[in-house]
Amino acid sequence: MCGIVGYISKDGNPNSLRLGVEALKRLEYRGYDSAGFAIWDANKKDIFCQKAVGRINKLEEKINNNSVFDNPVILHTRWATHGGVTDCNAHPHCDCRKNIYLVHNGIIENYKELKEQLIKEGHKFSSETDTEVLSHLVEKFFKGNLEEAVRRALSLVRGTYGIAVISREDPKKIVAARLGSPLLLGLGENEYLIASDPSAVIAHTKKVIYLDDGEIATLTPENFFILKEKKPEEIEWKLEEAQKGGFPHFMLKEIMEEPETIENALRGRLIIEEGRVKLGGLDGIQEKLRKINRLILVACGTASYAARVGEYMLEEYAGIPTEVDTASEFRYRKPIVDKNTAAIFISQSGETADTLAALKEMKQKGILTIGITNVVGSTQARETDAGVYTRSGPEIAVASTKAFLGQLATLAMFAVYLGRQREMALVMGKRIVQELAKLPELAKETLKSAPEIEKLAKNYKDFNNFWFIGRKYNYPIALEGALKLKEISYLHAEGVGAGELKHGPIALIDETFPTVAILPSDSVYEKMVSNIQEVKARRGKVLAIATQGNEDIKKIVDDVIYIPKTLEMLTPILSVIPLHLFAYYTAVLLGHDVDKPRNLAKSVTVE
Ligand code: M6R
Repeated sequence: MCGIVGYISKDGNPNSLRLGVEALKRLEYRGYDSAGFAIWDANKKDIFCQKAVGRINKLEEKINNNSVFDNPVILHTRWATHGGVTDCNAHPHCDCRKNIYLVHNGIIENYKELKEQLIKEGHKFSSETDTEVLSHLVEKFFKGNLEEAVRRALSLVRGTYGIAVISREDPKKIVAARLGSPLLLGLGENEYLIASDPSAVIAHTKKVIYLDDGEIATLTPENFFILKEKKPEEIEWKLEEAQKGGFPHFMLKEIMEEPETIENALRGRLIIEEGRVKLGGLDGIQEKLRKINRLILVACGTASYAARVGEYMLEEYAGIPTEVDTASEFRYRKPIVDKNTAAIFISQSGETADTLAALKEMKQKGILTIGITNVVGSTQARETDAGVYTRSGPEIAVASTKAFLGQLATLAMFAVYLGRQREMALVMGKRIVQELAKLPELAKETLKSAPEIEKLAKNYKDFNNFWFIGRKYNYPIALEGALKLKEISYLHAEGVGAGELKHGPIALIDETFPTVAILPSDSVYEKMVSNIQEVKARRGKVLAIATQGNEDIKKIVDDVIYIPKTLEMLTPILSVIPLHLFAYYTAVLLGHDVDKPRNLAKSVTVE
């Protein structure tokens, strides 16, 4: 996601901007859509700010080599969440007087209220971002001391932040603060850095101090101050490892980010006491949505499996007849729609050609179109009538993992949103919203099985064929588990509704053809047990994904991976995590390039 760098040195340094840009480039792997910097110009006694949409070299092209800058400098790579990808929305953001310049990672949840208040007080905003409220808030409290103004501003903020701030009127310092978004200080020789990720500072120093939540640090050319006494730590990563946050592959890094992805999707959207969710992107079509009596969900690949889970959620909890189609087929059938039909398009990239073609078709028919998209400003996000961003952050590995979790969490919220507009009772709304809020923690707990799953992958990697079976909410998870395994391990794997086994697929089962069965303790649990018995009766090996506390299942299957208990509709959000890990470890053990599997592209922009 977004990246932050700050640099300050003892004797000033005309190379500060170049050093800062180099450090920022080390954060490029995180993905971004625009970049910017603000730097103290010693000649003009002012701050110079520059921003550019696109890669960092676009920003570099805008720098005049004859300019003599000094430091401090703060730099940022932005991955849009609030507001489109424009120069204006890129960071740093400044106040009305161009005194305060600030870069920010995270989301300010109460930015709308703060912005309204600041506008009433006469502040003029120039971007659509949540971040800009921070620079105006700091301006409001600035009386010559930057730390003090930052401290007072942050006391009014709800949400997450990692920030770095500089001021023209208090110029020889960088003030940095964190809450829920990582930030560290790099302690070099006669120089200090601030960064959101160790990879940015590693070329300068391995001595770092990680800021804790709620801490504010001040860096001056001579020293640094944090309220609490803290000992520096040594970074152990090599530079290339740091690009992946210390993980051997982007895919593993992204799987490990799944709890955070769920949290990001839910952040600021759950209103627990009212048992409802707030989806700002749907505000403009709220009344239209009340009249919708049929939904069509359209997507490709992994996103289409999220759509299938969504189908169960929306029919059961919103009470709206829902159908799912893969985009590549959808446009070649003759979908019958009327003015009360809405089509929802789900896509991580927002650039999948098949999905966009289906969207175009639906727009021609004049029905309401909604996007569930990860990439802000993508074609899908722009072309749909309204939408919800999943806020999963950049997904670099070709095989989609964390984005799927963002899609599922968003669909669950969508079901509550539409359900509460209709028959869903307050108690039911509250129950789902409360359980949704617990999911990030439960996902973290699920990830603790990683070492056990790695061991299991060793036992299963030499089989050439796999069935993945599930029912109801976990039928699409069987499809996703199989897709993930085949994409990166190149083993043959098929997902099938467990009830369908006996209608044909069971013919293949013998001791060489194992089955991965997803059977949380839910309304179809007994049915799943019967289907597993059918497999066992044919000497098939079974690896089960079951709910913690279910000891009985051990008597029937060969291996079990446990997931925590949650509501039936939310089980897919947990049950898919072990399957992502299983596919990952199997592929690694087989020696494949997991991040770039053969024949596949991250974004399929051709039909
Ligand atoms: O960017 P999208 O979500 O629209 O992509 C859809 C599919 O191409 C994508 O999910 C694909 O199936 C992945 N390789 C799955 O891991």
